[in-house]
Amino acid sequence: MSDEPVALITGAYRGLGFETCRQLAMRGYAVLLTARHDQQGNEAAQTLADEGLDIRYYALDVTDEISMQRLAGHIRQAYGRLDVLVNNAGVFPDSAPGENGSSAFDARLENVRRGLETNTLGPLRLCQRNGPRILDSRLSVFCPHILRPDHAATGHTSLPS
Ligand SMILES: NC(=O)c1ccc[n+]([C@@H]2O[C@H](COP(=O)([O-])OP(=O)(O)OC[C@H]3O[C@@H](n4cnc5c(N)ncnc54)[C@H](OP(=O)(O)O)[C@@H]3O)[C@@H](O)[C@H]2O)c1
Repeated sequence: MSDEPVALITGAYRGLGFETCRQLAMRGYAVLLTARHDQQGNEAAQTLADEGLDIRYYALDVTDEISMQRLAGHIRQAYGRLDVLVNNAGVFPDSAPGENGSSAFDARLENVRRGLETNTLGPLRLCQRNGPRILDSRLSVFCPHILRPDHAATGHTSLPS
């Protein structure tokens, strides 16, 4: 069981996820930086570890059930708790406005499916898998996508312990 609060950030080797890892670690969290490619994830975690922060990399593709299972097992064994889950990983597979596929009438179903898998079902599955651990602590879940699939909203849920 970790003494520090533990935070998990998905899709975190760059962009907002990467900076979120840094900010949470600076505030005393043990941070699990996850990404779907080992090289990028390891390099990003190393960059932050070199700044003296408590950051570890773990592989996670939010569309891959086995990858999620492995991560949940790792959290259970290595930390025994999860305090913050930031569902940051996301894709924007739609065509630009005015291009083919940008309207509901000609949207490509494979793009819709990929968006739903990554932006909606991924965060939901992660919450379900890690629920017992986050419900034991002061839960914070951030989901850029789960409330509205149009990429415009940020959902934040906090449950008291
Ligand atoms: N920046 C904004 O203004 C804005 C506004 C609204 C919402 N958002 C949302 O906020 C989040 C962060 O934004 P950002 O600008 O930092 O985006 P970003 O740079 O595109 O980062 C998205 C991350 O998600 C990862 N990812 C995609 N599919 C994945 C999967 N199946 N499994 C694991 N990781 C996956 C990407 O990794 P790969 O390189 O491997 O694909 C990337 O690391 C995104 O979800 C974005 O849609 C951003």
